[in-house]
Amino acid sequence: MNIWDRAYQNNKKFRQLSFDDLNFVLEKLDLKLNNQILEIGCGTGFLSRQLYHRGFKVTGIDSSEIAIKQAKKSSIFVDYYYQDAIEFLANNQAKYNLIISKYTIAFIEDLERFLTLATDNLTKDGQILIISPQISTLPDDKKFIAIDNQKLTQICQKLNLKIEIITRNQDDYIFIG
Ligand SMILES: C[S@@+](CC[C@H](N)C(=O)[O-])C[C@H]1O[C@@H](n2cnc3c(N)ncnc32)[C@H](O)[C@@H]1O
Repeated sequence: MNIWDRAYQNNKKFRQLSFDDLNFVLEKLDLKLNNQILEIGCGTGFLSRQLYHRGFKVTGIDSSEIAIKQAKKSSIFVDYYYQDAIEFLANNQAKYNLIISKYTIAFIEDLERFLTLATDNLTKDGQILIISPQISTLPDDKKFIAIDNQKLTQICQKLNLKIEIITRNQDDYIFIG
């Protein structure tokens, strides 16, 4: 059992995207109905289900077995897998119009490998959207849960990926690709 399993066992919940936040994201992304979306670090799957209800085909993966068990109980319409992000991306054959990840990327050690593999899993016009808590809103002892935007920007430049960071409420919305 990992730390996330323990958190989910204790019914831990994370801030959710509001209806307006989701509208903002979908307007920016220009997705089509039935487009394929992969959510990395989906937890108990709330965002994946929100996206399914907006008309997309959604796969959610998470490395917490307990979170994925809870996610599977909540919907049969989203495909949920208990797997590590890197492992999944390295072995997956499908292509996605969007790879989305909320409050998770700060916990993935090799960001460059993650972005390289995620890009390989995108359709030609596909995009990556990372949602991270805005670092300046966090107390010092919580800053590790936010992505380092400078480091991320440098990796994107190295991989020749376009990056746009929009701060909204307490979060950064980072559009890549
Ligand atoms: C802060 S929680 C966010 C969960 C969900 N995205 C949300 O916003 O409610 C971080 C999640 O990332 C998952 N996670 C951490 N490292 C991961 C990895 N290497 N591969 C897949 N999931 C991972 C954890 O299990 C946890 O569910």
